[in-house]
Amino acid sequence: MRERLAADFERLGRAMPRDPAAHVRETYGIDLTARYLGFDLPHPIGKGSGQLSLNSDQLTTDREAGLAFVVLKTVIAEDQAGMRSMGAWAIHESRMKMEQRTASDGRTSWTVTWKGRGWDRPFEDYLALVRDAGDLTRDGALLAVPSVKYHLPHLGEPFRSAEYRHTTSRIVEAWGASVLPLEKDFSPTLAGDELADERERILRWLREVPGEIRSAAAGAPLRLGIKLMNARFDDGFQQEMLAAVREADALVCFNRLWDAGTRVAYGGWDLSERNLRVLRSARAAGMRLPPLVGTGNVCSGRLVLDYARAGCESVELHTFFQLPLAEYPAAVGSRTQRALHALFFHPEEGLVAGMLELERSGLLHRNGGELRFLDLCASEAA
Ligand SMILES: Cc1cc2nc3c(=O)[nH]c(=O)nc-3n(C[C@H](O)[C@H](O)[C@H](O)COP(=O)(O)O)c2cc1C
Repeated sequence: MRERLAADFERLGRAMPRDPAAHVRETYGIDLTARYLGFDLPHPIGKGSGQLSLNSDQLTTDREAGLAFVVLKTVIAEDQAGMRSMGAWAIHESRMKMEQRTASDGRTSWTVTWKGRGWDRPFEDYLALVRDAGDLTRDGALLAVPSVKYHLPHLGEPFRSAEYRHTTSRIVEAWGASVLPLEKDFSPTLAGDELADERERILRWLREVPGEIRSAAAGAPLRLGIKLMNARFDDGFQQEMLAAVREADALVCFNRLWDAGTRVAYGGWDLSERNLRVLRSARAAGMRLPPLVGTGNVCSGRLVLDYARAGCESVELHTFFQLPLAEYPAAVGSRTQRALHALFFHPEEGLVAGMLELERSGLLHRNGGELRFLDLCASEAA
Protein backbone atom coordinates (compact mmCIF):
# COMPACT_ATOMS: atom_id res chain seq x y z
CA MET A 1 0.00 0.00 0.00
CA ARG A 2 2.80 2.37 0.93
CA GLU A 3 4.61 1.84 -2.33
CA ARG A 4 1.42 2.26 -4.24
CA LEU A 5 0.75 5.49 -2.38
CA ALA A 6 4.22 6.86 -3.11
CA ALA A 7 3.74 6.02 -6.80
CA ASP A 8 0.27 7.60 -6.84
CA PHE A 9 1.56 10.75 -5.15
CA GLU A 10 4.19 11.10 -7.84
CA ARG A 11 1.92 10.28 -10.78
CA LEU A 12 -1.19 12.18 -9.66
CA GLY A 13 0.90 15.29 -9.05
CA ARG A 14 1.03 15.54 -12.83
CA ALA A 15 -2.65 14.69 -13.46
CA MET A 16 -5.20 14.43 -10.67
CA PRO A 17 -8.15 12.10 -11.26
CA ARG A 18 -11.45 13.88 -11.89
CA ASP A 19 -12.96 12.01 -8.96
CA PRO A 20 -10.21 11.61 -6.35
CA ALA A 21 -12.53 9.99 -3.78
CA ALA A 22 -13.50 7.23 -6.25
CA HIS A 23 -9.81 6.62 -6.94
CA VAL A 24 -9.10 6.31 -3.20
CA ARG A 25 -11.97 3.87 -2.77
CA GLU A 26 -10.94 1.65 -5.68
CA THR A 27 -7.25 1.69 -4.91
CA TYR A 28 -7.10 1.61 -1.12
CA GLY A 29 -10.52 0.36 -0.02
CA ILE A 30 -11.10 3.66 1.80
CA ASP A 31 -14.55 5.21 1.82
CA LEU A 32 -14.11 8.96 2.35
CA THR A 33 -17.85 9.72 2.39
CA ALA A 34 -18.40 12.73 4.66
CA ARG A 35 -21.25 15.07 5.56
CA TYR A 36 -21.96 18.77 5.69
CA LEU A 37 -25.31 20.00 7.01
CA GLY A 38 -26.80 16.56 6.40
CA PHE A 39 -25.70 16.48 2.74
CA ASP A 40 -23.63 13.44 1.78
CA LEU A 41 -20.24 14.40 0.36
CA PRO A 42 -17.75 12.26 -1.58
CA HIS A 43 -15.00 13.36 0.83
CA PRO A 44 -14.60 15.76 3.75
CA ILE A 45 -12.72 18.66 2.15
CA GLY A 46 -14.53 21.91 1.43
CA LYS A 47 -13.72 25.58 1.12
CA GLY A 48 -14.53 28.00 3.94
CA SER A 49 -16.26 31.28 3.23
CA GLY A 50 -13.94 34.07 2.07
CA GLN A 51 -12.11 35.66 -0.84
CA LEU A 52 -11.90 32.38 -2.73
CA SER A 53 -15.65 32.08 -3.34
CA LEU A 54 -16.64 35.45 -4.75
CA ASN A 55 -17.70 34.46 -8.26
CA SER A 56 -18.95 31.68 -10.50
CA ASP A 57 -15.55 31.15 -12.13
CA GLN A 58 -14.10 30.18 -8.77
CA LEU A 59 -16.99 27.73 -8.26
CA THR A 60 -16.39 26.20 -11.68
CA THR A 61 -12.69 25.71 -10.95
CA ASP A 62 -13.54 24.06 -7.63
CA ARG A 63 -16.11 21.80 -9.20
CA GLU A 64 -13.60 20.69 -11.82
CA ALA A 65 -11.01 20.04 -9.13
CA GLY A 66 -13.43 17.73 -7.30
CA LEU A 67 -13.86 19.80 -4.13
CA ALA A 68 -16.69 18.47 -1.93
CA PHE A 69 -18.34 21.80 -1.07
CA VAL A 70 -17.80 25.54 -1.07
CA VAL A 71 -19.18 28.19 1.27
CA LEU A 72 -19.73 31.49 -0.54
CA LYS A 73 -18.29 34.73 0.77
CA THR A 74 -20.35 36.15 3.66
CA VAL A 75 -22.90 38.76 2.64
CA ILE A 76 -24.01 41.46 5.09
CA ALA A 77 -27.75 41.39 5.72
CA GLU A 78 -29.90 44.33 4.63
CA ASP A 79 -33.54 45.35 4.84
CA GLN A 80 -35.87 46.27 2.01
CA ALA A 81 -34.52 49.82 1.87
CA GLY A 82 -30.93 48.56 1.64
CA MET A 83 -30.11 49.50 5.27
CA ARG A 84 -27.41 47.33 6.84
CA SER A 85 -26.95 47.51 10.60
CA MET A 86 -23.70 45.60 10.15
CA GLY A 87 -22.64 47.84 7.27
CA ALA A 88 -19.23 48.40 8.81
CA TRP A 89 -18.48 44.81 7.84
CA ALA A 90 -18.95 45.49 4.14
CA ILE A 91 -15.70 47.41 3.68
CA HIS A 92 -13.69 47.01 0.52
CA GLU A 93 -10.18 45.61 0.89
CA SER A 94 -8.61 43.57 -1.84
CA ARG A 95 -5.02 43.16 -0.62
CA MET A 96 -4.24 39.88 1.07
CA LYS A 97 -0.80 38.99 2.33
CA MET A 98 0.47 35.45 2.86
CA GLU A 99 2.75 35.43 5.87
CA GLN A 100 4.56 32.95 8.06
CA ARG A 101 3.37 32.97 11.64
CA THR A 102 5.13 31.34 14.56
CA ALA A 103 2.76 29.73 17.05
CA SER A 104 3.25 29.76 20.81
CA ASP A 105 4.77 26.25 20.60
CA GLY A 106 7.35 27.47 18.06
CA ARG A 107 5.89 25.82 14.96
CA THR A 108 5.47 28.01 11.91
CA SER A 109 2.70 27.98 9.37
CA TRP A 110 1.08 30.17 6.77
CA THR A 111 -1.54 32.72 7.67
CA VAL A 112 -3.42 35.24 5.54
CA THR A 113 -3.30 38.82 6.71
CA TRP A 114 -6.26 40.74 5.42
CA LYS A 115 -8.18 43.68 6.77
CA GLY A 116 -11.36 43.25 4.78
CA ARG A 117 -14.58 41.80 6.08
CA GLY A 118 -17.80 40.84 4.25
CA TRP A 119 -19.17 41.00 0.69
CA ASP A 120 -18.57 44.56 -0.53
CA ARG A 121 -20.65 44.62 -3.73
CA PRO A 122 -24.42 45.09 -4.22
CA PHE A 123 -26.73 42.45 -2.73
CA GLU A 124 -28.16 41.80 -6.21
CA ASP A 125 -24.72 40.58 -7.33
CA TYR A 126 -24.65 38.17 -4.40
CA LEU A 127 -28.09 36.88 -5.34
CA ALA A 128 -26.81 36.13 -8.86
CA LEU A 129 -24.05 34.03 -7.29
CA VAL A 130 -26.63 32.27 -5.08
CA ARG A 131 -28.63 31.39 -8.23
CA ASP A 132 -25.55 29.69 -9.69
CA ALA A 133 -24.86 27.99 -6.36
CA GLY A 134 -28.41 26.58 -6.27
CA ASP A 135 -28.08 25.25 -9.82
CA LEU A 136 -24.70 23.63 -9.17
CA THR A 137 -25.99 22.03 -5.98
CA ARG A 138 -29.15 20.66 -7.60
CA ASP A 139 -27.08 19.28 -10.50
CA GLY A 140 -25.02 17.35 -7.96
CA ALA A 141 -21.91 19.07 -9.34
CA LEU A 142 -20.84 20.89 -6.17
CA LEU A 143 -22.59 21.75 -2.92
CA ALA A 144 -22.30 25.56 -2.77
CA VAL A 145 -23.58 27.29 0.34
CA PRO A 146 -24.52 30.95 0.93
CA SER A 147 -23.23 32.64 4.09
CA VAL A 148 -24.74 35.65 5.87
CA LYS A 149 -23.84 38.01 8.66
CA TYR A 150 -27.05 39.27 10.25
CA HIS A 151 -27.69 42.02 12.78
CA LEU A 152 -26.25 41.31 16.24
CA PRO A 153 -27.84 43.57 18.85
CA HIS A 154 -26.68 44.92 22.19
CA LEU A 155 -28.25 43.33 25.25
CA GLY A 156 -31.76 44.63 25.75
CA GLU A 157 -31.98 45.75 22.12
CA PRO A 158 -34.28 43.77 19.77
CA PHE A 159 -33.06 41.96 16.67
CA ARG A 160 -33.71 43.90 13.47
CA SER A 161 -36.05 41.28 12.10
CA ALA A 162 -36.66 43.28 8.90
CA GLU A 163 -33.03 42.65 7.89
CA TYR A 164 -33.34 38.97 8.73
CA ARG A 165 -36.59 38.67 6.76
CA HIS A 166 -35.55 40.59 3.66
CA THR A 167 -32.13 38.98 3.30
CA THR A 168 -33.29 35.45 3.99
CA SER A 169 -36.32 35.59 1.73
CA ARG A 170 -34.29 36.98 -1.18
CA ILE A 171 -31.68 34.24 -0.75
CA VAL A 172 -34.38 31.56 -0.52
CA GLU A 173 -35.92 32.91 -3.71
CA ALA A 174 -32.61 33.10 -5.59
CA TRP A 175 -31.61 29.61 -4.45
CA GLY A 176 -34.66 27.98 -6.07
CA ALA A 177 -36.67 24.89 -5.38
CA SER A 178 -34.65 22.70 -3.04
CA VAL A 179 -33.57 22.72 0.58
CA LEU A 180 -31.32 25.72 1.24
CA PRO A 181 -28.08 25.18 3.15
CA LEU A 182 -27.07 28.41 4.89
CA GLU A 183 -24.17 29.41 7.13
CA LYS A 184 -24.46 32.19 9.66
CA ASP A 185 -21.09 33.77 10.27
CA PHE A 186 -20.11 35.12 13.67
CA SER A 187 -17.11 36.80 12.11
CA PRO A 188 -13.54 36.53 13.36
CA THR A 189 -13.16 40.28 13.05
CA LEU A 190 -16.18 40.60 15.27
CA ALA A 191 -14.03 39.21 18.03
CA GLY A 192 -12.12 42.47 17.84
CA ASP A 193 -15.21 44.60 18.06
CA GLU A 194 -16.41 46.10 21.31
CA LEU A 195 -19.75 44.35 20.75
CA ALA A 196 -18.03 41.04 21.36
CA ASP A 197 -16.72 42.05 24.76
CA GLU A 198 -19.58 40.79 26.77
CA ARG A 199 -20.23 37.13 27.40
CA GLU A 200 -23.94 37.45 28.02
CA ARG A 201 -24.36 39.28 24.76
CA ILE A 202 -22.61 36.56 22.77
CA LEU A 203 -24.55 33.77 24.48
CA ARG A 204 -27.84 35.53 23.75
CA TRP A 205 -26.91 35.77 20.05
CA LEU A 206 -26.16 32.07 19.95
CA ARG A 207 -29.43 31.19 21.63
CA GLU A 208 -31.61 33.49 19.56
CA VAL A 209 -30.07 34.03 16.12
CA PRO A 210 -30.98 30.56 14.72
CA GLY A 211 -34.64 31.09 15.65
CA GLU A 212 -34.58 34.55 14.03
CA ILE A 213 -33.22 33.07 10.81
CA ARG A 214 -35.72 30.24 10.80
CA SER A 215 -38.70 32.52 11.26
CA ALA A 216 -37.28 34.80 8.56
CA ALA A 217 -37.27 31.79 6.20
CA ALA A 218 -41.06 31.59 6.75
CA GLY A 219 -41.29 27.83 6.37
CA ALA A 220 -38.92 27.49 3.37
CA PRO A 221 -36.82 24.32 3.76
CA LEU A 222 -33.54 25.39 5.37
CA ARG A 223 -30.52 23.72 6.96
CA LEU A 224 -28.63 26.10 9.14
CA GLY A 225 -24.93 25.97 9.97
CA ILE A 226 -23.69 28.26 12.71
CA LYS A 227 -20.06 29.25 12.26
CA LEU A 228 -18.72 30.06 15.68
CA MET A 229 -15.96 32.54 16.33
CA ASN A 230 -13.06 32.26 18.70
CA ALA A 231 -14.13 34.70 21.38
CA ARG A 232 -11.51 36.58 23.38
CA PHE A 233 -12.15 34.43 26.44
CA ASP A 234 -10.89 31.07 27.66
CA ASP A 235 -11.61 27.52 26.47
CA GLY A 236 -14.39 27.22 29.02
CA PHE A 237 -16.26 30.03 27.33
CA GLN A 238 -15.85 28.34 23.92
CA GLN A 239 -17.65 25.36 25.47
CA GLU A 240 -20.35 27.61 26.84
CA MET A 241 -20.79 28.96 23.33
CA LEU A 242 -21.15 25.43 21.95
CA ALA A 243 -23.77 24.63 24.55
CA ALA A 244 -25.69 27.87 23.99
CA VAL A 245 -26.54 27.37 20.32
CA ARG A 246 -30.12 26.28 19.78
CA GLU A 247 -31.73 24.95 16.62
CA ALA A 248 -28.61 24.63 14.47
CA ASP A 249 -28.19 21.78 11.99
CA ALA A 250 -24.40 22.00 12.23
CA LEU A 251 -21.72 23.95 14.09
CA VAL A 252 -18.62 25.12 12.23
CA CYS A 253 -15.77 25.33 14.76
CA PHE A 254 -14.06 27.81 15.09
CA ASN A 255 -13.17 30.89 13.04
CA ARG A 256 -9.80 32.62 13.25
CA LEU A 257 -8.11 34.07 16.32
CA TRP A 258 -7.78 37.79 16.93
CA ASP A 259 -4.44 39.51 17.37
CA ALA A 260 -5.29 42.52 19.51
CA GLY A 261 -1.83 44.04 18.95
CA THR A 262 -1.89 44.16 15.18
CA ARG A 263 -5.71 44.15 14.98
CA VAL A 264 -5.91 41.34 12.46
CA ALA A 265 -7.41 37.86 12.46
CA TYR A 266 -4.93 35.01 12.13
CA GLY A 267 -4.66 31.25 11.82
CA GLY A 268 -1.92 28.65 12.00
CA TRP A 269 -1.06 26.17 14.76
CA ASP A 270 -2.40 28.27 17.61
CA LEU A 271 -5.77 28.15 15.90
CA SER A 272 -5.89 24.40 15.27
CA GLU A 273 -4.53 23.64 18.76
CA ARG A 274 -7.20 25.71 20.41
CA ASN A 275 -10.02 24.41 18.20
CA LEU A 276 -9.05 20.77 18.67
CA ARG A 277 -8.55 21.21 22.40
CA VAL A 278 -12.02 22.68 22.85
CA LEU A 279 -13.71 20.09 20.61
CA ARG A 280 -11.93 17.21 22.34
CA SER A 281 -12.91 18.40 25.77
CA ALA A 282 -16.52 18.93 24.65
CA ARG A 283 -16.49 15.34 23.46
CA ALA A 284 -14.85 14.06 26.63
CA ALA A 285 -17.47 15.90 28.68
CA GLY A 286 -20.17 14.06 26.70
CA MET A 287 -21.75 17.28 25.39
CA ARG A 288 -24.59 16.54 22.99
CA LEU A 289 -23.96 18.75 19.98
CA PRO A 290 -25.30 19.10 16.44
CA PRO A 291 -23.04 17.63 13.72
CA LEU A 292 -19.66 19.38 13.68
CA VAL A 293 -17.58 20.85 10.85
CA GLY A 294 -13.95 21.75 11.52
CA THR A 295 -12.10 24.83 10.36
CA GLY A 296 -8.67 26.22 11.15
CA ASN A 297 -5.18 25.39 9.90
CA VAL A 298 -6.17 22.29 7.97
CA CYS A 299 -2.87 22.06 6.11
CA SER A 300 -2.56 18.27 5.73
CA GLY A 301 -4.63 15.11 5.64
CA ARG A 302 -3.50 14.48 9.20
CA LEU A 303 -5.19 17.64 10.37
CA VAL A 304 -8.38 16.52 8.60
CA LEU A 305 -8.15 13.32 10.64
CA ASP A 306 -7.49 15.22 13.88
CA TYR A 307 -10.68 17.21 13.35
CA ALA A 308 -12.56 14.01 12.42
CA ARG A 309 -11.44 12.32 15.61
CA ALA A 310 -12.68 15.33 17.52
CA GLY A 311 -16.11 14.72 15.93
CA CYS A 312 -16.06 16.74 12.68
CA GLU A 313 -17.83 15.20 9.69
CA SER A 314 -16.10 17.55 7.21
CA VAL A 315 -13.68 20.50 7.17
CA GLU A 316 -13.57 23.99 5.66
CA LEU A 317 -10.18 25.31 4.51
CA HIS A 318 -9.15 28.73 3.34
CA THR A 319 -5.44 29.37 3.87
CA PHE A 320 -4.29 26.07 2.35
CA PHE A 321 -6.00 27.01 -0.91
CA GLN A 322 -3.95 30.17 -1.27
CA LEU A 323 -0.37 29.09 -0.69
CA PRO A 324 2.39 30.19 -3.07
CA LEU A 325 2.39 27.64 -5.91
CA ALA A 326 5.86 26.39 -5.02
CA GLU A 327 4.50 25.13 -1.68
CA TYR A 328 2.36 22.45 -3.33
CA PRO A 329 4.04 19.21 -4.35
CA ALA A 330 1.93 18.93 -7.52
CA ALA A 331 3.41 20.53 -10.61
CA VAL A 332 0.18 21.24 -12.48
CA GLY A 333 -3.47 22.08 -11.85
CA SER A 334 -5.45 24.79 -10.13
CA ARG A 335 -4.59 25.63 -6.51
CA THR A 336 -7.62 23.64 -5.40
CA GLN A 337 -6.42 20.60 -7.35
CA ARG A 338 -2.89 20.90 -6.04
CA ALA A 339 -4.16 21.27 -2.50
CA LEU A 340 -6.39 18.20 -2.82
CA HIS A 341 -3.49 16.22 -4.25
CA ALA A 342 -1.36 16.94 -1.17
CA LEU A 343 -4.24 16.48 1.29
CA PHE A 344 -5.23 13.11 -0.15
CA PHE A 345 -2.05 11.51 -1.37
CA HIS A 346 0.97 12.82 0.54
CA PRO A 347 2.76 9.60 1.54
CA GLU A 348 3.31 10.71 5.17
CA GLU A 349 0.94 13.60 5.84
CA GLY A 350 -2.01 12.70 3.60
CA LEU A 351 -5.49 11.41 4.36
CA VAL A 352 -4.87 7.99 2.83
CA ALA A 353 -1.57 7.53 4.69
CA GLY A 354 -3.18 8.64 7.95
CA MET A 355 -6.15 6.30 7.65
CA LEU A 356 -3.92 3.34 6.81
CA GLU A 357 -1.83 4.16 9.85
CA LEU A 358 -4.91 4.31 12.09
CA GLU A 359 -5.83 0.88 10.77
CA ARG A 360 -2.34 -0.48 11.54
CA SER A 361 -2.50 0.84 15.07
CA GLY A 362 -5.92 -0.75 15.63
CA LEU A 363 -7.81 2.54 15.97
CA LEU A 364 -9.84 2.08 12.78
CA HIS A 365 -11.31 -1.14 11.46
CA ARG A 366 -12.51 -2.26 8.06
CA ASN A 367 -16.21 -2.54 7.68
CA GLY A 368 -17.37 -4.61 4.70
CA GLY A 369 -13.72 -4.56 3.60
CA GLU A 370 -13.48 -0.75 3.74
CA LEU A 371 -12.09 1.88 6.08
CA ARG A 372 -14.72 4.56 6.54
CA PHE A 373 -13.93 8.18 7.26
CA LEU A 374 -17.23 8.73 9.07
CA ASP A 375 -16.42 5.91 11.52
CA LEU A 376 -13.71 8.19 12.89
CA CYS A 377 -16.16 10.97 13.71
CA ALA A 378 -18.62 8.63 15.35
CA SER A 379 -16.24 6.55 17.40
CA GLU A 380 -15.38 7.66 20.91
CA ALA A 381 -12.41 5.29 20.94
CA ALA A 382 -10.82 7.01 17.93
C1 LIG B 1 -8.97 36.31 3.68
C2 LIG B 1 -10.00 35.58 4.48
C3 LIG B 1 -11.34 35.97 4.40
C4 LIG B 1 -12.31 35.30 5.14
N1 LIG B 1 -13.61 35.70 5.05
C5 LIG B 1 -14.57 35.01 5.72
C6 LIG B 1 -15.94 35.36 5.60
O1 LIG B 1 -16.33 36.29 4.89
N2 LIG B 1 -16.85 34.64 6.31
C7 LIG B 1 -16.50 33.59 7.12
O2 LIG B 1 -17.37 32.94 7.71
N3 LIG B 1 -15.19 33.23 7.24
C8 LIG B 1 -14.24 33.91 6.58
N4 LIG B 1 -12.92 33.52 6.67
C9 LIG B 1 -12.57 32.37 7.53
C10 LIG B 1 -12.32 31.09 6.72
O3 LIG B 1 -13.49 30.66 6.06
C11 LIG B 1 -11.81 29.94 7.62
O4 LIG B 1 -12.86 29.48 8.45
C12 LIG B 1 -10.63 30.35 8.49
O5 LIG B 1 -9.71 31.12 7.75
C13 LIG B 1 -9.91 29.15 9.09
O6 LIG B 1 -9.43 28.29 8.10
P1 LIG B 1 -7.91 28.33 7.54
O7 LIG B 1 -6.99 28.22 8.71
O8 LIG B 1 -7.86 27.14 6.62
O9 LIG B 1 -7.74 29.61 6.81
C14 LIG B 1 -11.93 34.20 5.96
C15 LIG B 1 -10.59 33.82 6.03
C16 LIG B 1 -9.63 34.49 5.30
C17 LIG B 1 -8.21 34.05 5.42
